[in-house]
Amino acid sequence: MKRVITYGTFDLIHYGHINLLKRARELGDYLIVALSTDEFNWNSKQKKCYFSYQKRQQLLEAIRYVDLVIPEECWEQKVNDVQLYHVDTFVMGDDWTGKFDFLKDYCQVVYLPRTPEISTTQIKEDLHQ
Ligand code: CTP
Repeated sequence: MKRVITYGTFDLIHYGHINLLKRARELGDYLIVALSTDEFNWNSKQKKCYFSYQKRQQLLEAIRYVDLVIPEECWEQKVNDVQLYHVDTFVMGDDWTGKFDFLKDYCQVVYLPRTPEISTTQIKEDLHQ
């Protein structure tokens, strides 16, 4: 079985997220999403989520492409996750190109093209206009 992992906040899930998850899942047979906790988002990414970790987890678990959701609590956990979950492929959107190349010592690293013109930040900004 080929295992794939991806990381992110996935707040206010939108079609850009779905496109990413669908293509990530197609790279293997089992997709793990490491979902940023509220604390990690706030402390490390200066992001305040609209939906709590628990609600974002519930939404992700309802998506057919997602097999398992685990917490992302720090930047440094990736090597450990890859080894612990026997991950074959690490996937992120191409806004992260090059940032995680150090994982190539442990698994395949793939950056997928982002879906244009949609992001959680954009949704929030549009709703506040
Ligand atoms: N993603 C994507 N296409 C988009 C938006 C996101 O492929 N239009 C991907 C990102 O590259 C990442 C994953 O979805 O691999 C989760 O991204 P996340 O940061 O949670 O989503 P954004 O909508 O970019 O949120 P924000 O605006 O808060 O950064």
